[in-house]
Amino acid sequence: MEKKQVSIIVNGERKEAEIEPRMLLAHFLREVVGLTGTHIGCDTTNCGACTVILNGRAVKSCTVLAVQANNTKILTIEGLSRGQNKLHPVQKAFVDKQGFQCGYCTSGMILTSYWLLKNRKNVSEEEIRAAISGNLCRCTGYDSIVESIKEAQEMMKEEGDALEHEQEITVRSKR
Ligand code: FES
Ligand code: FES
Repeated sequence: MEKKQVSIIVNGERKEAEIEPRMLLAHFLREVVGLTGTHIGCDTTNCGACTVILNGRAVKSCTVLAVQANNTKILTIEGLSRGQNKLHPVQKAFVDKQGFQCGYCTSGMILTSYWLLKNRKNVSEEEIRAAISGNLCRCTGYDSIVESIKEAQEMMKEEGDALEHEQEITVRSKR
């Protein structure tokens, strides 16, 4: 099959490659870009482990072809922290409230939570549970995840984080 050229901004850096048109975005991120924090649990849009932020929206990257993501901006779990030893509040809250056990679902959970908290203010527990309903966790029973997201909400309120981080990614992507 004829290969296609794609150009995708990943965590503020432009990534270009010639790929098979059938390549999924999840595989592009892991195998071409080398960012293995995006996990693959099912490859069938069920588990949410592969969630990334595409042009500001949380998407399951096993549901998107890499060619469909051409000329978009992607944020992965690796791009969420502000450098070594400087976790994003959502990441820090998951550590503080023990929102993970094996960690397989965690990057997807964190990015879904980030997207929720960036776009909604004062979310209730019910809204949190609805937002993560597409992300499966086989370990925690979800309560510690919900507590983590509540904690992240408080931390982000204090820091006014969401806008600041989005601007940071935008500025980096223009370089
Ligand atoms: S790997 Fe994408 S939803 Fe499970
Ligand atoms: S922490 Fe193991 S699947 Fe969620």
